[in-house]
Amino acid sequence: MQQPSFEIIGPDVIDVWTWSLDAPPPSVDEFAALLSAEELARAARFVRERDGQRFIVGRGRLRSILGRYLGLPPQIFSFIYNDYGKPSIALPGGTPFQFNLSHSADLAALAISDHYELGIDIEEIRFLKEDIAGRFFSRREYLTLQALPPEAYLDGFYRCWTRKEAFVKAHGAGLSLPLDSFDVTFDWANEPRLERLDGDPDAPSNWRVLELETPITFAGAVVALTKGHPVGLRYRSDEEEAPKWSVSHPEYSARPLHRNDGSQEVRS
Ligand SMILES: CC(C)(COP(=O)(O)OP(=O)(O)OC[C@H]1O[C@@H](n2cnc3c(N)ncnc32)[C@H](O)[C@@H]1OP(=O)(O)O)[C@@H](O)C(=O)NCCC(=O)NCCS
Repeated sequence: MQQPSFEIIGPDVIDVWTWSLDAPPPSVDEFAALLSAEELARAARFVRERDGQRFIVGRGRLRSILGRYLGLPPQIFSFIYNDYGKPSIALPGGTPFQFNLSHSADLAALAISDHYELGIDIEEIRFLKEDIAGRFFSRREYLTLQALPPEAYLDGFYRCWTRKEAFVKAHGAGLSLPLDSFDVTFDWANEPRLERLDGDPDAPSNWRVLELETPITFAGAVVALTKGHPVGLRYRSDEEEAPKWSVSHPEYSARPLHRNDGSQEVRS
């Protein structure tokens, strides 16, 4: 029997993909054709049409990128969610990849690893109307932020926010993890890292915090549970040579291919 043809990432890098969520209508239709009926229903529930279209482009592109790694057509796999809403790929026999998606304004970012549990967050940088740090940051983070010069405040705020959010997303417990139960660094004097997680003294050496390269009006971070293994970010794009693996997969080769119009095609 032919072996699965998954694309290998390896323990030394985490792959990162970014893309625009604003696509012309024909592309939105093409992405919509990749979504499940449930995803299309979710897209239809957005109040603003633009948000629904961005969701379609985000999910469609997520599916096509994950399909590349899995060696599967993008529309035939589905997602499962943990108790806090974190999605993973539902495959018979388990999934070989961890991924996490973030979107803000018109930008999406995806991190993928075949070794580590991970989280990613991007945020568009906007002026703050209230003391959000006072509500969401730990005491230590708040004091660090207040000590920054005024011109560094906004930048520091978003570095801290995205690192905290990426940690929450990597951890998997969502916002049930108290935001004051851990500290991240975010001033330029310190490497990005987790400094404290209540009840887990080994956490700072187990988790890795990485600064994400973003357009200048965004901030971003990736956090992964590498248990001390050094890891870097590898930025991927469609301009690369097409991967050489085939799309056949033993679990799926004889299964029906579900289409979004409800019809089925039996794959040979
Ligand atoms: C839902 C949450 C996981 C992320 O929210 P967010 O920053 O608004 O959204 P992002 O764009 O970064 O991430 C959304 C994606 O993460 C994934 N996701 C959803 N729940 C998740 C969870 N519990 N853990 C990890 N990833 C999750 C999904 O792929 C989702 O994409 P989708 O909406 O297209 O299905 C959660 O952390 C949240 O509600 N945060 C609110 C903001 C906040 O208070 N942050 C405090 C930081 S100091």
